[in-house]
Amino acid sequence: MSTLPGKTVLITGANAGIGKDVARQLALRPEIARIYLACRNRDRAVTARAELETATGRSIFDIVVMDVADLGSVRAGLAAIDGSVDALVMNAGVIGPQSMKLTADGVTTVFATNVLGHVVLLEGLLAEGRLGEVAVLVGSEAARGVPKLRMKRPSFVTTSANELATVIDGSYFAGRKADFNLAFGQVKYIGALWMAYLARQHPDRRFITVSPGGTTGTQAANDLKLPLRLAAKYVMPALGITHKLDVGARRLVDGVTDPTLSSGVFYASAANKVNGPLVNQAEISPDLANLTFQDHANEAIHRFIV
Ligand SMILES: NC(=O)c1ccc[n+]([C@@H]2O[C@H](COP(=O)([O-])OP(=O)(O)OC[C@H]3O[C@@H](n4cnc5c(N)ncnc54)[C@H](OP(=O)(O)O)[C@@H]3O)[C@@H](O)[C@H]2O)c1
Repeated sequence: MSTLPGKTVLITGANAGIGKDVARQLALRPEIARIYLACRNRDRAVTARAELETATGRSIFDIVVMDVADLGSVRAGLAAIDGSVDALVMNAGVIGPQSMKLTADGVTTVFATNVLGHVVLLEGLLAEGRLGEVAVLVGSEAARGVPKLRMKRPSFVTTSANELATVIDGSYFAGRKADFNLAFGQVKYIGALWMAYLARQHPDRRFITVSPGGTTGTQAANDLKLPLRLAAKYVMPALGITHKLDVGARRLVDGVTDPTLSSGVFYASAANKVNGPLVNQAEISPDLANLTFQDHANEAIHRFIV
């Protein structure tokens, strides 16, 4: 994003964790004039806004009530925003056993939250000429697997639109116990392919997927079983595998503000790591740069938007 004054940013899932810290860090930049906190719960958003005002000394936060797992709510939130936004940060996300339930749109909650609601939001802004400069989708190293942490790499037989659609509607796991960690990685993978597709359609804007990396100090692990929760909260930080909240959020702030990051690229940690410097993930998973797979992801997603 350019450093001209008067910039406006919209962040989904901005009342907690990484999204809230992205709001805090962006508000400390003089060029940022307004930040929309798009949150599903107004009370939690009001509390977060008060904390952000205290932390930054700025009263530039507007609340937009938006449940990204509900397309009607996304469209209503879009209509409630005045004018255009210079930057969009698509951060809201869930993981865990509850995330395999289907929404009213016939997609898994993990897909609805991490991707589908954001597709309707971003494409709505683009269709109305209301995205100024850059959109950042929050990705994850789970999209290409982390063998050291026993996170399986999502792999597909043909990566056809039909096959990707089985991830979206949950039928990929038909007849067997769903692996919600793998589902999360698959969903983030499809999201990164979709962003790369959009980058080709709109060369005048920037579309970047960035993983915050393994980040402590968030609510993300709260729905996991106790051993996994303890590992995420205590063991991984102690081993230096993960980093602190401000470091993870800083990666997304860079996605918004660093003009050297290339449109269409998915940036995350080096192979087998969830912290450290950002690298282009197509160096690890060349399929992320496959134009046909990107087209298939876009096609599969749009089967679920009416
Ligand atoms: N933490 C990590 O190590 C890590 C690693 C890789 C990627 N990520 C990604 O980073 C993003 C933020 O995660 P986090 O760690 O900050 O998690 P978090 O603390 O659980 O925060 C998630 C945020 O998303 C919001 N949200 C969830 N479902 C929503 C919905 N349907 N509509 C609107 N908002 C919704 C939550 O709101 P409520 O308070 O109302 O629930 C909360 O504000 C996610 O996309 C996650 O996949 C995190």
